[in-house]
Amino acid sequence: MKQTLCIANQKGGVGKTTTSVHLAAGLARKGEKVLLIDLDAQNNASSVFPESKSDSAKDSFSLFSERAPLSEIIVRTRIEGLHLLPSSSKLTQIDVLLAGKMDGFFILKEALEPHSSDFDWVVIDCPPSLSLITMNAFVAATGVIVPLQVSKFSLDGIEAILEAKGNTVKRFNPGLKILGALLTLFQQRTTMSQTVVPMIEEHLRLFESKIPPSVAVEEAHLLNQSLYEYQPKNKATKAYLQFTEEVFSLG
Ligand SMILES: Nc1ncnc2c1ncn2[C@@H]1O[C@H](COP(=O)(O)OP(=O)(O)O)[C@@H](O)[C@H]1O
Ligand SMILES: [Mg+2]
Repeated sequence: MKQTLCIANQKGGVGKTTTSVHLAAGLARKGEKVLLIDLDAQNNASSVFPESKSDSAKDSFSLFSERAPLSEIIVRTRIEGLHLLPSSSKLTQIDVLLAGKMDGFFILKEALEPHSSDFDWVVIDCPPSLSLITMNAFVAATGVIVPLQVSKFSLDGIEAILEAKGNTVKRFNPGLKILGALLTLFQQRTTMSQTVVPMIEEHLRLFESKIPPSVAVEEAHLLNQSLYEYQPKNKATKAYLQFTEEVFSLG
């Protein structure tokens, strides 16, 4: 395993799922062995791979509730080299189910351990919260990537993420690093971006790649396709390919 990457931001709608899917698929297209883990009860990442649905009755809920081994949950996708751990709408129950359990933070990490030689990369799509599920991802991960949408609110959540990361490092996972923030839905020459970007950079390293807004992203989602399949030449597609190269070089 080169890296286990956690795509996290407790805000919804900042591009976590889009980034997780296109990073995972992008690395697989380079010939890497990749596991995409969908930990959001909304199932958005899993829905890009409808072909993987019927293969498995188990999902990430089975992992947390009954500690089902990953070998029983992981499914292939149509993209060569890309496997998926599908999500479950029942994931919202996990925080209550695991409350007070001593080892509740380590479930994902322990489940991944026997598979360290099966995958080069693990990409985890986190829910929009700093819940027990996200903490499981932080404990299992080597790196955190924070998708951010430039707005006057983008700074609000950064402190909470840095604090959660700091706590994880202190107690559970000393090696965890924040690899950087990825600007999504980014419009270069606006007053907003020119004002807010330097403020973000005071807290987080930014990836060079920035993802521009494109209707192709919504359209591809609607058609259950990745951008690489739907519009290989689109500006957002190219930006995600460039981002994939940046992350690959960190491996
Ligand atoms: N670069 C983009 N251009 C246009 N729409 C985007 C872009 N990135 C994400 N979106 C759309 O914004 C919404 C939120 O994105 P998503 O990746 O689901 O965020 P999150 O997982 O953080 O909630 C989705 O409807 C998605 O299609
Ligand atoms: Mg999402």
